[in-house]
Amino acid sequence: MEKRVIDAIIFDLDGVIVSTDEYHYKAWKRLADEEGIPFDREMNHRLRGVSRMACVNIILEKMPDIYTLAEKENMAERKNRYYIESLGNLNEQALLPGVQETLPLLKKEGYQIAIGSSSKNAGMILEKLGLDHTFHKVVDGNDITFSKPNPEVFLKAADALGVRPERCIVVEDSTAGIDAARCAGMFAVGTAEAQIYEKTQIGISSFEQIAGVCRRLNG
Ligand code: BG6
Ligand code: MG
Repeated sequence: MEKRVIDAIIFDLDGVIVSTDEYHYKAWKRLADEEGIPFDREMNHRLRGVSRMACVNIILEKMPDIYTLAEKENMAERKNRYYIESLGNLNEQALLPGVQETLPLLKKEGYQIAIGSSSKNAGMILEKLGLDHTFHKVVDGNDITFSKPNPEVFLKAADALGVRPERCIVVEDSTAGIDAARCAGMFAVGTAEAQIYEKTQIGISSFEQIAGVCRRLNG
């Protein structure tokens, strides 16, 4: 493995920290079914990491001229309503395995930790999970102009932490997020489907492995 000095870990939120990726899927599925638009889990993979409007455009890519911009905006707004409705009972049980134990450990070992998420709902979700004071910095969909695969969210997070990009690890479940991390010059760790993505530098099958990756990189 290449050697690097790692000072910070930037985590994606949906699908890395919490199982809200499934809630996103269900909200899009509800909308697509209502509109009679074909939508399945395979297409859903392409929605990971990208902004709400970018998702609408992916879902409608086979019918680009059927919906007006106002109708597309309305679809994005409706999906968000369904999504927020479904988060009503979200609590710590939705945290992905290993998260609760590993985050304090990483902080104890001296790493800065941040969230780098495309979601505009990140703040509300972190609050529901009781994680609103856990991360040193949170950069989300409200802070950026371009969503992943653009590196903006991760560069802003590194800047907010005061850490150079090459000293950051990004943990991502989406290919768009891995592309963004590599473009930012960060070390890209993939979970879930991103474990086997060609641009992923290390795939991990459990969250706890992050501490080991940091140690190995720091030699
Ligand atoms: C990302 C999700 O974290 O946030 C995407 O992976 C989602 O699927 C994006 O589209 C934007 O989320 P929100 O909550 O602002 O609609
Ligand atoms: Mg994700």
